[in-house]
Amino acid sequence: MAYPIVRQRRLRDNPVLREMIGETDLSANDLIYPIFVVSGLSVKRPIDSLPGQYHLSPDQAAALAVDFSRAGGRALMLFGLPDNKDEIGASGADPLGPVQLAIKAIKKAAPELCVITDVCLCEYTSHGHCGLISGLTVLNDPSLEHLAKQALSHVQSGADMVAPSDMMDGRVGAIRKLLDENGFEHIPIMAYSAKYASAFYGPFRDAAASAPAFGDRRGYQMDPKNRREALTEVALDIEEGADIVMVKPAGPYLDVLREVRNFTAKPLAAYQVSGEYYMLKCAAAAGGLDFKRAAWESLIGIKRAGADLILTYLAPEALVWLRGKSFKILRSK
Ligand code: PBG
Repeated sequence: MAYPIVRQRRLRDNPVLREMIGETDLSANDLIYPIFVVSGLSVKRPIDSLPGQYHLSPDQAAALAVDFSRAGGRALMLFGLPDNKDEIGASGADPLGPVQLAIKAIKKAAPELCVITDVCLCEYTSHGHCGLISGLTVLNDPSLEHLAKQALSHVQSGADMVAPSDMMDGRVGAIRKLLDENGFEHIPIMAYSAKYASAFYGPFRDAAASAPAFGDRRGYQMDPKNRREALTEVALDIEEGADIVMVKPAGPYLDVLREVRNFTAKPLAAYQVSGEYYMLKCAAAAGGLDFKRAAWESLIGIKRAGADLILTYLAPEALVWLRGKSFKILRSK
């Protein structure tokens, strides 16, 4: 059967019906909000490369967490900017580091929020690579112990979940093992499984002061040309104990998201990265896009591709759009 008996427009005319038959939806339960924490007190410094985002000291991160939770938010992802960096990224496991202190402050102020931490060395190493180096080589196996120590220190500070983003082989297994040995077998791991060597991380590297001092990350992050390889990465991470797998970036990799969705029954996260957010903000600021509609469409596209969870800098704004009212978290921006 076809036209004129079939008319696709019949179900598009009525706005209620249109919503009722919608195949994809977004809810507060899907959103994880990445934030950047620094040491100090009362620090709330706008990040130049990420309009609307801030460097927050632990107390300010806790204040934001309370507002975020009141707005219906469920989960935060923490990135840290340490005071000191060295060759091995040791400050990443400092119990008094900004991430560790922010976890404690947030869990105290808003215990209902899920606190997830990014586990990586690049913010903590003097050379900005995600693992240890020897000359110009990024070493794999010697990096694992340091990543696992960092993850353990996050969990000891109260993190609800850890998310390794370094792309070293074997890191999920190493983290799982150390957490289990220390009685944290109940703490889940969300693995950045298919993480591509992407230019869309540009604004983040300014925000996190984590750009590599030499070379690039193509020796450990995935080649943007590859889709099948993502399935191998996902399979290996699951075998090592990943509870949630991730594809990153999101928008330019929707085909990978769909492929991974069809490949595993595990929960799937997608990271709408800094450059994706930046493009939306800049295009809207230049008058080229309706920000809310374009941003919403970008999130729906990621859900439609198969993501259960979306890490996005749009989370506070999306909550407002979802609930249809304003919250302090946005008014203070
Ligand atoms: C750390 C890390 C990066 C991002 C998340 N974790 C940067 C990178 O790999 O260079 C990027 C996030 C974003 O762009 O929003 N390895």
